[in-house]
Amino acid sequence: MDFLTMAKDCRYSCRRYADRPLEKETLERILEAGRVAPTATNAQPQRIVAVTTPEGMESLAGCTRYTFGAPAALIVCYDRTEVWVRSYDGKEGGDVDAAIVTTHMMLQAAELGVGTCWVGSFDPKLVREEFSLPAQIVPVAILILGWPADEAVPSPKHDKRKPLEETVVYGKF
Ligand SMILES: Cc1cc2nc3c(=O)[nH]c(=O)nc-3n(C[C@H](O)[C@H](O)[C@H](O)COP(=O)(O)O)c2cc1C
Repeated sequence: MDFLTMAKDCRYSCRRYADRPLEKETLERILEAGRVAPTATNAQPQRIVAVTTPEGMESLAGCTRYTFGAPAALIVCYDRTEVWVRSYDGKEGGDVDAAIVTTHMMLQAAELGVGTCWVGSFDPKLVREEFSLPAQIVPVAILILGWPADEAVPSPKHDKRKPLEETVVYGKF
């Protein structure tokens, strides 16, 4: 399958999951895709909490309403002490790095047929408490994971993308 076909037709935000655990080897392949992701100065500040037990998923459900009964999730964070900082304006690269890592994992999951949903709507304070995040660890994204339920379908939003003319300018803005 070529990349664009996978990105358009295979990857979508899955919000219904089969009652089936995610095998360790499958999860490790997805994590490996995150490991090889590029990060600013190759600093690799990402830190990932793999949540794979029903108890863990229950704890996570206390931090976000978007767990969809899935069997697993990855809480993608970065270590504030390891991020690249842009010298011109002091902007930290942690969010960008964590987003690239999450995207790599999301697309690897799609290639394997594993459903994912990126969740940004969570209470960071509760995540910090429930999963014992040290002070320098900043949670950015939760990647919900599992085998899609038979009845899982993309939401109507999946096909709604602005045309390139609305989002790209050539030359100057
Ligand atoms: C940064 C980010 C945060 C998101 N947060 C949530 C969320 O909290 N809950 C949810 O159900 N979907 C969330 N999504 C999924 C988006 O709603 C979804 O990607 C978008 O509507 C396009 O649909 P598609 O992924 O099926 O193509 C998030 C996606 C991104 C990239």
